[in-house]
Amino acid sequence: MYKLQKSSTALYIQLYTQIKEDIKNNILASGVKLPSIRKMSNDYKISKTTVESAYSQLYAEGYIESLPQSGYFVSKDIVQNFNTQEIKEEKPLVSKEYKYNFYQARHSKDIFPKKLWAKLHNKVINSINFGSYPNKQGTLGLRKELAKYLSTSRALICEEEQIIICSGFSDSMFIIATILKEFSSSIAIEYPGYKVVERVFKLQNYSIDNIAILKEGIDLKSLEKSNNKLLYVTPSHQYPTGITIPISNRIKLISWAMKNNAYIIEDDYDSELSYNNRPIPSLQGINNNQRVIYSGTFSKALSPALRVSYIVLPKELVSIYKEIFQFSYSGVPLDTQKTLEVFMKEGHWEKHIRKMRTLNKRKHDLMKKAIKSYLKNSVKIVREGSGLALLIKACVEIDWEKLNRLLEEESIKIYSTKSDSTLDDNTIYLGFGCFKEEEILKAVEAFSKVWYKSILTS
Ligand SMILES: Cc1ncc(COP(=O)(O)O)c(C=O)c1O
Repeated sequence: MYKLQKSSTALYIQLYTQIKEDIKNNILASGVKLPSIRKMSNDYKISKTTVESAYSQLYAEGYIESLPQSGYFVSKDIVQNFNTQEIKEEKPLVSKEYKYNFYQARHSKDIFPKKLWAKLHNKVINSINFGSYPNKQGTLGLRKELAKYLSTSRALICEEEQIIICSGFSDSMFIIATILKEFSSSIAIEYPGYKVVERVFKLQNYSIDNIAILKEGIDLKSLEKSNNKLLYVTPSHQYPTGITIPISNRIKLISWAMKNNAYIIEDDYDSELSYNNRPIPSLQGINNNQRVIYSGTFSKALSPALRVSYIVLPKELVSIYKEIFQFSYSGVPLDTQKTLEVFMKEGHWEKHIRKMRTLNKRKHDLMKKAIKSYLKNSVKIVREGSGLALLIKACVEIDWEKLNRLLEEESIKIYSTKSDSTLDDNTIYLGFGCFKEEEILKAVEAFSKVWYKSILTS
C-alpha cells in the first residue's frame, strides 16, 4: 500500500516516488504488471489524472514500459537492487587543532592584508568582463607585473609571454612534466628533495634518477654520468637542507645544460624570505641561457591559501605549451589574478615582502633563541636563515614513539622531513611562521619538556 497524504508535495509525485522506490528495491520486479490506472484511482481514491501523471513520469524515466492493449509493466532491462549496497558515510576530515602546531609552511592568520585585499578586490571586480573567456596563460596584466618583479628582484630575463600563472606548485610541475615529455622520459631530481616533484613526474610515467646533494649543491659528476636531459633543483636554498649552490657550480650547471641540450627546472620557492643575506640571483638569469624553466610561488610571502604560483618557460617551450594546453585555462580565479595584479602594480607587494621579511626574521631569531635556551645541546640546527621554519637534528638518542605519543597528549604537533621530502630520517622542522611572536618561546618550552622525557638513557 502506498501512503498518499495531503502535503506540499503533489499526490502524483508521492505516488511516482513510492513506485520508483519499489522498483529500485526489487519489490516490483522487472516485467511485473502495474495495476491499471482505473484500479489505482479507485483503490486510492485519487483522480485518474494523478495516476496517469505518476505513470507518465515513471515511463519517461524508463522505469516502466507500456504495452499496447495490455497496460504498464516494470521495464525488462531495469537494473534493480541498486540501492541495496550500503553507502558508508565518510567522516568529514577535520584536522585537529593543536595547542602548538610547528607546521613548516604556514603563516599566522592575521598576517594576510585582508582589508587592503578586499578594497582592491572591490575595485577590480567592476573591470572584469564576466561575459568572455579569460587569457589562458593568466591575465596579461599580472604576467607583466611578474615579469617586472622577477627581473628586478631575481635577475630573471623574461617577457610576459613566457609566464604561465598556475594554481600552486603541483600544478606548475604538472604543466612542466607534460611539456617535457617529448624531450625525455626520465628526470634527475636532487636528493634529498621535495616529494611533490617525484610524485608528479612519476604520475606522468617518468623514471626518476636521484642525484645527491653535496656541500656545494648537486653532485655534478653523478649528474654528468646519469645521461639525463632534465634536472630539478632548488639552487638558491636547497629543500630541505638549505644549501646554496655557489656561483662557480651554477655556471657549471648551466654549461652542463647547454652542452647536453638539457633543461633545468629551477624551483625558487622561498627567495623572498631570506634573512641573513640578499637572495642569490636566479639561475635563469645567468647568461640568458634559455635552458632554465623557472618556478615561483606566492605561498611563502603572501598566502598558501590563494594557490597562486607561476612558471617562466624558455621561449622555445612556449609554443609547445600553447599547442599542448590549447584548451586549458589557468586554474587561478580571474578576480584573484586581477586583485594580485593591482596589488603588485600599486606597490603593495614590495611593501608586503619587506614587512614579511622583517616580521619573519624576528620570529626566526626568536625560534633560534628558544631552541638554544630550551633544547640546548640535545639538538643541532641544520638549517636556518630563511623561509618559515628551522630544521633541527637530535644529538641524543630519542624514543620517537614515546615522543610522538607524549606530544599528542600535550596537543603539540611537529613534522619531520619525512612528511614532505625524500629525506627519510628524523630531522625535524620547527615552523615559526604560524606562531605569534609571543607564542614562540612558550611553544618551544612546551616541546622541550616532552623532548627531554623522550631521551633514551643507556
Ligand atoms: C620546495 C618547495 N617548492 C615549492 C613550494 C610551493 O608550493 P605551493 O606553491 O604548492 O604552496 C614549496 C612549499 O612549501 C616547497 O617547499
